[in-house]
Amino acid sequence: MADEASTARARELREHLERWNHEYYVLDAPSIPDADYDRALRELAELERSFPELIDPESPTQRVGAPPLDVFESVAHPIPMLSLDNAFSEDELAAFVRRICDRLDVDETPELVAEPKLDGIAVSLIYRDGRLWRAATRGDGTRGEDITLNVRTIRAIPLRLQGDDWPAELEVRGEIFMPRAGFEAFNEQARRAGEKPFVNPRNAAAGSLRQLDSSITAKRPLDFFAYAAGQHPDDGWPASHWEVLERFRGWGLPVSREARRVASLEACETYYREMEARRDGLAFDIDGIVYKVNAFAAQRELGFVARAPRWAIARKFPAQEAMTTLLGVEFQVGRTGAITPVARLKPVFVGGVTVSNATLHNMDEIARLNLHEDDTVVVRRAGDVIPQVVSVIEERRRENAPVVIAPQSCPVCDSPVERVEGEAALRCTGGLVCPAQRKASLRHFAARRAMDIDGLGDKLIEQLVDRGLVRNVADLYHLTQEQLCALERMGEKSAQKLLGAIEKSRQTTLPRFLFALGIREVGEATAVSLANHLGSLEAIAAADEDTLMAIPDVGPVVAAHVWGFFTSAQQEVVAQLREAGVTWPDVERAVDNDGPLKDQTWVVSGRLESCSRDEAEERLRGLGARTAKSVSGKTTVLLAGPGAGSKLAKAESLGVEVIDEAEFLRRVQAGAEG
Ligand code: IVH
Repeated sequence: MADEASTARARELREHLERWNHEYYVLDAPSIPDADYDRALRELAELERSFPELIDPESPTQRVGAPPLDVFESVAHPIPMLSLDNAFSEDELAAFVRRICDRLDVDETPELVAEPKLDGIAVSLIYRDGRLWRAATRGDGTRGEDITLNVRTIRAIPLRLQGDDWPAELEVRGEIFMPRAGFEAFNEQARRAGEKPFVNPRNAAAGSLRQLDSSITAKRPLDFFAYAAGQHPDDGWPASHWEVLERFRGWGLPVSREARRVASLEACETYYREMEARRDGLAFDIDGIVYKVNAFAAQRELGFVARAPRWAIARKFPAQEAMTTLLGVEFQVGRTGAITPVARLKPVFVGGVTVSNATLHNMDEIARLNLHEDDTVVVRRAGDVIPQVVSVIEERRRENAPVVIAPQSCPVCDSPVERVEGEAALRCTGGLVCPAQRKASLRHFAARRAMDIDGLGDKLIEQLVDRGLVRNVADLYHLTQEQLCALERMGEKSAQKLLGAIEKSRQTTLPRFLFALGIREVGEATAVSLANHLGSLEAIAAADEDTLMAIPDVGPVVAAHVWGFFTSAQQEVVAQLREAGVTWPDVERAVDNDGPLKDQTWVVSGRLESCSRDEAEERLRGLGARTAKSVSGKTTVLLAGPGAGSKLAKAESLGVEVIDEAEFLRRVQAGAEG
């Protein structure tokens, strides 16, 4: 039985977690770091595991999903879920406003509420006694599917309403959607794994909700906004839509902050223009603006036609997807030799701009699309994301059209092309022999966040490489005024300026320098981490993969690339750069390597009771030890909890010392005291 203290602690944790959840998902204003949230959630899960009677179906721990269903049950909506009429122009919106004025027999436009039209999936949420009781899809408007288990995993949707002034039975309607960032990340991961990406965030949201196994839905980044009430008691109910939205907010339901009251056609138009301008910068897709008559009395008077209300209308934005023809596929070579196929398209107006190129990502994507020459394709451009080809209209394919195939050699330098196992990318093997790779690595080197060489733009790099003046980044430091002045569009003044910028870049910092080298998988954050933990370029260049993996954020892939870089011919360029006078101040190392466990390499594996593996590693590093992720001849000690498995076997076969958690705690204690 749970003692009083555990019961009270579980209640306290739940209250905290619910508040933090609300701050994060509904108010968009988190007050604590994610790690603190995770820690509290873990503590609560631990308590519930020890004392199952503490489990509460509304507990924040219950958002991980439930056992899979066989089918979704079909359920009836208490009130039909309607659709909206569309207006595609200002004139059509004006006609809507005129119609409502006529019907209401008024001269002035009644107050309207304008809201973004979210491009997601409509849902009905029924709350009974303030608890989420049932969630259903729209279906055919009369009956939908019961997706309660899936919806319960969405953290933006409260499992319990806040306050106590909600009706005993309340139906909330709104839209579930996948924010763009989550969608892009999900697709990126799917593409890397060779799996099928989603065509757009709306399909991603629909696909995620259609899972019979809610633990899958739980892993998808879904979000929600409430935009109307369905069934509700009339007693004490507000008189306007706006007030309902305010009540929703008070009950902890997320409501779009963009909703506004507007009182004239001009105000509608202004709002529309403003939202259209901001559309690309929003975190999620919207496909228009919904205008709703605010007063319920007026709504009742206006009523419905067929399946849509007369008191609301959707003014659509220009589409973010459009059809066009594929003119060809070009294979572009990047800094690391990765070859990216780019579709050349017949120009088409989509998402507010004219698009004539779209990324095809990699060969797997071309295969998935089953892309043939001259195909009719659907392109999508949303937000500031690069336009993409999302699907092919196979019915429109011309007869005998050849399929698009991968190049056998680099389209720029003709070196053989390789395909690395486990990677979707094709790579040119030419390295710095390949002018495309050379140009791209120069662009990266000169970038603002790398060596910050002002004035070294794309056009200039083209000329420098094509004329053979610069073969690698170190050659930049030997350019002369004369050489520069001989280039197109380069006067004496700009040549001098550029030389000045190159000169200035000689004084840099270690993280910038590391980032500028363009080592694969080493972004700015990793460069900072490497510099802070190893302190000098020499130490980084000398580090083996285990040492590298002991650094936070450095996994086996990054470690292999860093190690590979400094043991390859590329280190020659590093030497040339140093000879050319590129320098930086020393970096103070973040780790205390003079601790009692100095010179020891530890590996932590299996389950621990007193702390997580990460925390154990952190403590070990605090005492001067290095920590690694795999057991090798260099391992000093393996700390093995239950389930250590293959690492334990390896340590035993290599004769590495193996200790359990009790011994670990004893040594850490001794180390800390001594
Ligand atoms: S109100 C009777 N408000 O648009 C009016 N709908 O085309 C019911 N939608 O199925 C809808 N954002 O999925 C309303 N702010 C919003 C909306 C919105 C998106 C969707 C909803 C509905 C569809 C109608």
